[in-house]
Amino acid sequence: MKLCVIGTGYVGLVTGICLSELGNTVICVDNDPKKIEKLKDNIMPIYEPGLEELVLKNKREGRLSFSISISEGVKQSDIIFICVATPPKANGEADLSAVANVSREIANHMDSYKIIVDKSTVPVETGDKVAETIKRYNKHNINFDVISNPEFMREGSAVHDTMHPDRIVVGTNSPRAAKIMQELYSPLNAPIIITDIKSAEIIKHASNSFLAMKISYVNALANICERAGADVVKVAEGMGLDKRIGRAFLDAGLGYGGSCFPKDVSAFIKIAEKLNYDFKLLKTVEEINTQQRKQFIKKVEDALWVINDKTIGILGLSFKPNTDDIRSAPSIDIIDALQKEGAGIKVYDPQAMENAKAHLNGVSYCRDPYETADGADALIILTEWDEFRQMDLDRIRRLLTHPIIIDGRNMFDPKDMEARGFVYKSVGR
Ligand code: UGA
Repeated sequence: MKLCVIGTGYVGLVTGICLSELGNTVICVDNDPKKIEKLKDNIMPIYEPGLEELVLKNKREGRLSFSISISEGVKQSDIIFICVATPPKANGEADLSAVANVSREIANHMDSYKIIVDKSTVPVETGDKVAETIKRYNKHNINFDVISNPEFMREGSAVHDTMHPDRIVVGTNSPRAAKIMQELYSPLNAPIIITDIKSAEIIKHASNSFLAMKISYVNALANICERAGADVVKVAEGMGLDKRIGRAFLDAGLGYGGSCFPKDVSAFIKIAEKLNYDFKLLKTVEEINTQQRKQFIKKVEDALWVINDKTIGILGLSFKPNTDDIRSAPSIDIIDALQKEGAGIKVYDPQAMENAKAHLNGVSYCRDPYETADGADALIILTEWDEFRQMDLDRIRRLLTHPIIIDGRNMFDPKDMEARGFVYKSVGR
């Protein structure tokens, strides 16, 4: 099939590239000329495992191209994916201006039947608004259908998630469009759920909010475990083996960050508010998440007593491993709080240091965990990169001025760390 993907952020880029890998001809469009130039030169705007290889392969095989022209993309495609950003406004609602602009532009350039797929995360009823907008600007009355097809890929494993999805959700009132979408996704061999547009839109916010709720639940449990002298990792394991609960997303730690959960939970609270429902449950999920970072800072203070003039080594800046994304990463808040108390900060992250530079002041960047530990009064782990799991811990202990590790991601076994001579603090254990 001939596809156009508008917006080359995480979702758009990975979607476009993976759909070309499935044999479709895909043109990825973005209004940022620099980004498009880089993609044409095979320079990836994000770090995402497996992405670059697929770009090279599909460009070589003539199925994948990049452009700044919506007109070109729309005219040569049967299906157009809207994958533009929906950033939060100051009040927590999603800002839909990019979706509105793109809908208008698509309408201006339509010359034959088109399916317009909304993949951006949007509030319920956006599909209706997109359809209304296209109808208004569609001067030649070209036939079209609007579909909601939310995305469930995770950063760091976005290519794998797209090629092996648990399910595909297609929200549409048109049997013709539903059939075409089923054909498009059939090579993935995943269950396809066909719903009305509004249900599809709600499935996205409901899924992300549910996962955020699991994380806040396990973080609340971590607090109880710490007070009671229990181990939250064991509690999660014991709960997770129950198939109705599941072990995934029960890792206690610093709470959720990233560009999705914080934004989507607060957007869902706003959506509910507009529909006259007070989503108290999700408000508490948010509150627990904020609290979790504050409690971690308290833990560092307890371990170091006075923070002023201490040198603290930070391992991990990205909001999760295998990405260079630092949006809403706990690291930014935690480093800021420690600097305000007078700490000197050394940091290391395998991928995110370049992106962090715009958000951090006065920190020194290190080449590896050992340089970070060298001469530090304590080492703090904020992201669970595999590289940290493989560190030579005895070397780290010798390099630290005081053998203190405060681990926000529960990467190591407390008994083992104590046996190695560390003062080791983690979360909920
Ligand atoms: C999330 C969803 O998992 C995807 O399904 C969805 O498509 C995506 O948002 C989106 O809406 O675009 P992502 O934000 O990339 O994906 O990352 P996750 O793996 O979900 O992690 C989110 C945050 O939760 C991270 O900060 C992570 O450290 C934290 N987390 C995750 C925990 O604290 N504990 C856990 O057990 C799991």
